[in-house]
Amino acid sequence: MSENIRIVKLLNTPEAGGEYTVAGWVRSTRASGDIVFIVLNDGSNLSGIQLVLERNDIPDFERFSKIATGTAIQANGRLVPSPAAGQQYELAVIKLKIVGESNPDYPLQKKRHSFEYLRSIAHLRPRTNTFGAMFRLRSKLAQAIHRFFAEHDFLYVHTPIITASDCEGAGELFRVTTLPPNSAPRNEGGSIDFGQDFFAQKTGLTVSGQLEGELFAQAFGNIYTFGPTFRAENSNTARHAAEFWMIEPEMAFSDLHDDADLAEEFVRYLCRFVLNDCAEDMAFFDQYIEKGLIERIRTVAEADFARMDYGDAIKYLQKANTNFNFPVEWGLDLQTEHERYITEQVVGGPAFVMNYPKDIKAFYMRQNDDARTVAAMDLLVPKVGEIIGGSQREERLELLERRIGDMDIPREPLWWYLDSRRWGSTPHAGFGLGFERIIMYLSGMENIRDVIPFPRTPRHAEF
Ligand code: 4AD
Ligand code: MG
Repeated sequence: MSENIRIVKLLNTPEAGGEYTVAGWVRSTRASGDIVFIVLNDGSNLSGIQLVLERNDIPDFERFSKIATGTAIQANGRLVPSPAAGQQYELAVIKLKIVGESNPDYPLQKKRHSFEYLRSIAHLRPRTNTFGAMFRLRSKLAQAIHRFFAEHDFLYVHTPIITASDCEGAGELFRVTTLPPNSAPRNEGGSIDFGQDFFAQKTGLTVSGQLEGELFAQAFGNIYTFGPTFRAENSNTARHAAEFWMIEPEMAFSDLHDDADLAEEFVRYLCRFVLNDCAEDMAFFDQYIEKGLIERIRTVAEADFARMDYGDAIKYLQKANTNFNFPVEWGLDLQTEHERYITEQVVGGPAFVMNYPKDIKAFYMRQNDDARTVAAMDLLVPKVGEIIGGSQREERLELLERRIGDMDIPREPLWWYLDSRRWGSTPHAGFGLGFERIIMYLSGMENIRDVIPFPRTPRHAEF
């Protein structure tokens, strides 16, 4: 089938007239007397191409005129200017081959289906307009992210997926074990003896590649990771998945402001990228998912992001004329409703909130001189809330050790992390961008389940 040309490429052909072969899946069929129109989509673009079959040209015309939605076909024909509105070309079919039959039971008939329903047929939803656009966007964005870091001379490091350390310290690790569930070896006290497990210790799926990323930053300067992360947090929200992808840059010889500068440049780069390189799919999202999306992204692509201290954010929230569901008080973490108020009502665009109370943040963050805050930053954006969490790291061994002690974190498993502060320690900083969160932000899609091919959320691991 190597003679097939991708539809997106065919539609960009400078002139009509040539003979081409395309292959894909039937989206719709319409018969009109001795002519049949078939919209064929091969995933390479949103519109697909219209095939025109004429009774006189096609042997077996009767059979093809009843072709079912979802059928896989290969069609050969002449590229001709299309008289129909909204399309430059169509294919006047000479030869048509049914590759894989479909039938009227095919669940994706030509009508609008709810996102809830489409989640229940996640094996088929990539063949819809919305999810075609979504997963093209996701694929291109992933490549743009690598390009951004390559252009900025960051080293790409693959951090481990199985790990013995809980970076965020939130106890959300999925266990990895080969011990038999019903007859696991026990210690004298009755607890499970992980010493006899595959790795001879308790292990889990990583919640973040940061700790290992920091080690590489202490050798290569600027590095990034881009991989799957896992969190067994039982929050059934539209923004949390148990398995999601995270981009984590880490920079040696850098502080919190360098970190925010990088985050800002990075997010703006991705905004420009989708506007320029995903125009057809973005126009679709603008029309069907969020009106005004393109204008919003264009504004962000050129905006300076606001930067505000956590303390000031709390003051804004306390002055707000809004009844929040969660309390607002210095020392408490910001909830999504607070984050959205700051970015949507106070700032009206992306905003960094910086210098959070140390007691609500992870052990590795650099302690500020006021002894009660750490050099943390979250980037908040309208509609989604937090899309980036980052910080300057505590590079001073003594303070790091004390913090680990104060927080009752076992020191021994982190011996190598502490070592990185022993020899040639540098001020360094980094952040994590949730890949799904930025896709939601750039597409206007409101549920994280609709921006990842096969979502993993509490009680859902099908497909
Ligand atoms: O704020 P988080 O927990 O930060 C870290 O993991 C740091 N180690 C990152 C670093 O400094 N290198 O997570 C970072 C981002 C969040 O801002 C959010 O976008 C995303 O990861 N995220 C999730 N996305 C989807 N589902 C979840 N359950 C997520 N948890 C975090
Ligand atoms: Mg966070």
